[in-house]
Amino acid sequence: MVLPMIIIGAQWGDEGKGKIVDYLAKDCGMVVRFNGGNNAGHTVVYKGVKYPLSLLPSGVLWQKDLLIAQGVVVNPKILLEEIDFFQKKGCKISLTIDQRANIVMPYHQLLDSATEEAKGDKKVGSLKLGIGYCYEDRNNRHGIRLEDLVNPRIFKEKLHEEFILKKKRIESVFNYKVTTSEKEIYEEYVVYGKKLQRYIGDVSKIVAENSGKRKILFEGAHGTFLDGNFGTYPYTTAVNTISGSVFSYVGFPPQGLNVIGIVKAYTTRVGGGPFPSELNDRNGQLLQEIGLEFGTVSKRKRRCGWLDLPMLRLAHRLNGFTSLAITKLDVLSDLPEIKITDHYLVEGKRMTEFPSSLEIVSQAKPIHKTFAGWTENISKIRKFRDLPKNCQKYLTFIEKNLNIPIKYISVGAERSAIIEL
Ligand code: GDP
Ligand code: IMO
Ligand code: MG
Repeated sequence: MVLPMIIIGAQWGDEGKGKIVDYLAKDCGMVVRFNGGNNAGHTVVYKGVKYPLSLLPSGVLWQKDLLIAQGVVVNPKILLEEIDFFQKKGCKISLTIDQRANIVMPYHQLLDSATEEAKGDKKVGSLKLGIGYCYEDRNNRHGIRLEDLVNPRIFKEKLHEEFILKKKRIESVFNYKVTTSEKEIYEEYVVYGKKLQRYIGDVSKIVAENSGKRKILFEGAHGTFLDGNFGTYPYTTAVNTISGSVFSYVGFPPQGLNVIGIVKAYTTRVGGGPFPSELNDRNGQLLQEIGLEFGTVSKRKRRCGWLDLPMLRLAHRLNGFTSLAITKLDVLSDLPEIKITDHYLVEGKRMTEFPSSLEIVSQAKPIHKTFAGWTENISKIRKFRDLPKNCQKYLTFIEKNLNIPIKYISVGAERSAIIEL
């Protein structure tokens, strides 16, 4: 029996996970999203149409069994809109959401906005969708779970307790005005609960029942350097994003997985925080423009830089990649030369792995290897040997240096624009 697969972003998110999940979902029985909330933005492009996703697993177009595990926090309005969008496109949605999944509430969003404002220059660049505060409540046992939302009596009680606490906090600590009433929230959310009732289930149990029988694809959101513990803390999201977290977020025992690291052929990041290989020059601007590097959810311009091997070495140590998918290689075409950050210098010392201390990261001087570019359009190429020689050299260097096989090379946003090795 083949091992379950897991998709992990190796950088700061937006590596093209959605595209690879869609590509791989064809051969899978079920796709399980296991972390994050609607701060994730995943894009699938099929036959020229762009499908944005933030909560539904990116295998949706294949009409496979879709599961949302308890590690995900659910904004019910957004999820229902996504379901509706795909149903209107004629997709049959077979979805189960774990009963334990926590619900993102309006007061979480208010707290997020108020905190970012209070932080001033030190703001994280949060999408202010309430994701961090929903995880805070979940971890501190103040959360409202899907199983509560679908039961009007319990929901009313829990909302009452939480609303009083949150209103006090928002108004007295942040001096923000809470304009929505408890009654308004109740009336809006109880309707969401009714609509989501048909999707509630025990994802942990479903995964156990199907384990070893059907091919399971676990879809991770965000990226390794946004991991709430191992990322560039505190400039991270509030959940774990590394491969090992899948076991507790879904609820199944540690076992062998095919861990596919999704690596953009260069580096991007949205929001604040350190970025050693960032390019504040014409090359950075070119990557941003050619790569259409705008946030899927936030529409903010993504910061761009060269591919950073110290980051990928740490990502590999944390995730145990069994193979890599290199995405957006086509974006590098036409650059006269391309660089890769090979290591950093910190106070004159060579450092080959991304450091954990932000103080050290801020001192890291990236040392590059330079590669000659190529001018051919590679988006229609489907075999490695047909890629321009300089492009092959770029990929071979990455593979050899990290000692991880590259299994997929994405050369365009469209589903079919991929080379499988
Ligand atoms: P995710 O969050 O990792 O799923 O990535 P996003 O969807 O937020 O951002 C990746 C963007 O790049 C999306 O607009 C994709 O359609 C697009 N994309 C994915 N793979 C490729 C590729 O190989 N080439 C190009 N040019 N675009 C790609
Ligand atoms: P996908 O799944 C890129 C970033 C935000 C911000 C920080 C905290 O599309 O790869 P939050 O809303 O969690 O409080 O924001 O994390 N961030 C992402 N950046 N891709 C993502 O997800 C992200 N999810 C969170 O920009 O800097
Ligand atoms: Mg994204």
